[in-house]
Amino acid sequence: MTQPAKPVSLPTLVPPSAEFAAQANVSGMDAYKALYDSAVTDPSAFWGNLAETELDWFKPFDKALDWQPPFVQWFTGGKLNVAYNCVERHTKTARKNKAAIIFEGEPGDQRIITYQELHRLVCRFASSLQQLGLKAGDRSIIYMPMIPEAAIAMLACARIGVTHSVVFGGFSAEALKARIQDLEAKVVLTADGGWRRGKEVRLKDAVDEALKFCPTVEHCVVYKRTGSDCHMEAGRDHWWNVLDETAREDVPAAELDSEHPLYVLYTSGTTGKPKGILHTTGGYLLQAQMTMKWIFDLKESDTYWCTADVGWVTGHSYVVYGPLAAGATTVIYEGAPDTPAFDRWWRLVDKYKVSIFYTSPTAIRALIRQGDHWPERHNLSSIRLLGSVGEPINPAAWEWFHRIIGNEKCPIVDTWWQTETGAILIAPMPGAVPLKPGSGTLPIPGLVAEIVDHAGNPVPDGHEGFLILKTPWPAMLRTIWGDPERYKEQYWSKVPGAYFTGDAARRDKDGYYWILGRVDDVMNVSGHRLSTMEIESALVRHPAVAESAVVGKPHEITGQAVCCFVTLKKGITDHDKLGLELRQWVAHEIGPFARPEEIRFTEALPKTRSGKIMRRLLREIVTSHTVAGDVTTLEDMNVLTSLSAQHDED
Ligand code: WTA
Repeated sequence: MTQPAKPVSLPTLVPPSAEFAAQANVSGMDAYKALYDSAVTDPSAFWGNLAETELDWFKPFDKALDWQPPFVQWFTGGKLNVAYNCVERHTKTARKNKAAIIFEGEPGDQRIITYQELHRLVCRFASSLQQLGLKAGDRSIIYMPMIPEAAIAMLACARIGVTHSVVFGGFSAEALKARIQDLEAKVVLTADGGWRRGKEVRLKDAVDEALKFCPTVEHCVVYKRTGSDCHMEAGRDHWWNVLDETAREDVPAAELDSEHPLYVLYTSGTTGKPKGILHTTGGYLLQAQMTMKWIFDLKESDTYWCTADVGWVTGHSYVVYGPLAAGATTVIYEGAPDTPAFDRWWRLVDKYKVSIFYTSPTAIRALIRQGDHWPERHNLSSIRLLGSVGEPINPAAWEWFHRIIGNEKCPIVDTWWQTETGAILIAPMPGAVPLKPGSGTLPIPGLVAEIVDHAGNPVPDGHEGFLILKTPWPAMLRTIWGDPERYKEQYWSKVPGAYFTGDAARRDKDGYYWILGRVDDVMNVSGHRLSTMEIESALVRHPAVAESAVVGKPHEITGQAVCCFVTLKKGITDHDKLGLELRQWVAHEIGPFARPEEIRFTEALPKTRSGKIMRRLLREIVTSHTVAGDVTTLEDMNVLTSLSAQHDED
């Protein structure tokens, strides 16, 4: 019989140990406050000084900050290159033979790539792209497994000014197609496949499917990872290694404007169409690099591992760009944490002596369930700092992470940020800011956050409200690709003059922020953002479905799970078969990670008199199994009664 879970009692305040503070990049509250105050008083001078000293420029910038709300530009007039800053500059220092990337594939293959070697590989691939006619301003799609070539592809694009968009390898051909089309990409960079749980994820097959509908794509480059057979379209498809045979190594880094588009990353919004979040060059890189030093307290000797996939923003800023700009050693692992067994991550920590370990609460919860004996088999004493991202960290996960993984000696930096923010915005500087488990603590220098009510008025400390940001920051999104109106409407119209995060939060008397979760139709499943509308649109494309409404349902491991209410077309009644089929359908239309946990069939959906589906009520049904909120606008009370009753029968 399983034991009932013990209630977890956590300390309310965890100050940095004297030992940690003594070696920290930012030590003591006064040092944090001094940074914060100087940035808030004169953001141009603060960030301008850092940009001059921390980044290498081909041409100095004229102006640090140009803020024409809601559009921001940082370091205008300056010219630089992200790949130069992340790789080439380190080859001119003692770091040239330092490991830039430590890679382990799921089957156990290992590569350690120094900065010098990474530079060579990036230049060679940049040369291959040039051979295909790619130039600054063109767009590429990167659809790769978690192997060094994913980072090399990103950096090679950055080196010649090609704007990339990485699409997570778990997305389906359909989702890939929509992103290629929106970006009007000229090239797709992919692999035959990658390894996940011992099986091959066949990426090239999905690319072939998508490319039937993507006339802008002239070329597709395929890296041989698994060695399995794949179709190669003559004239369009090229093997990476064949292009490499004639590649050059003397490809100069393009001298790009500070505002040159570095990448577009698609993320779920509140409609069915994903938003292409645009990040540019100088400001993005500076904040990614500075947060490595401030929040991860990065030292020359660290071995740093962020477990995110490069398909998500965390993989961009904290696997590739941030760590490499800061000259760190970054670990990349291709596969699943449970392959071949549940100690794979701990085995890697022990083997490579990882000192900074950054992951998500979902992963922590999944690993807790497997038992302490997995981590206990390994020596984790190399770890000195832990990090968490993606959702609020619950007490049980915090306690386990702290005690079992961190041996009660490592600070946990709970980092709040978003695809849109580009880099960490609220998180502790671990040698300065006392932790409060569950809180992201305090904002980075210069960031002014506020908690407001529906009317946009600040609420008193301790009260819940919407989290808004009142000052621009260097890694801020610049716009939504091709849709500046949606950018204005989505982020800047709810509270005039402020950025609307879409998160509810509260601030306590010490000024600490506590994030409570999304207030819009975005779900957070295993730390992945999913839009309810995107899944609804996928469902209604199925011939049997008349209508659907999707909500997030609390889930012990993944935080939220996808729950779909579906009404079928008249005469269709085969619920058991369709339940399975629709879950499969969504996985096919969007990607396996979006597969619904539950499909509930219903005769009708609760709607307002104007015909809007009342998702709030559905959320209440799946969350509390009762409906407490205002139902005065509900069209048909019978619908509600039957939906609630359905649960009682479960
Ligand atoms: C949530 C991931 C609480 C939040 C970097 C945000 C968090 C959304 C935290 C962005 C955290 C992220 N504590 N909630 N430390 N970090 N979130 O775009 O709801 O995939 O708005 O970026 O994740 O998700 P995204």
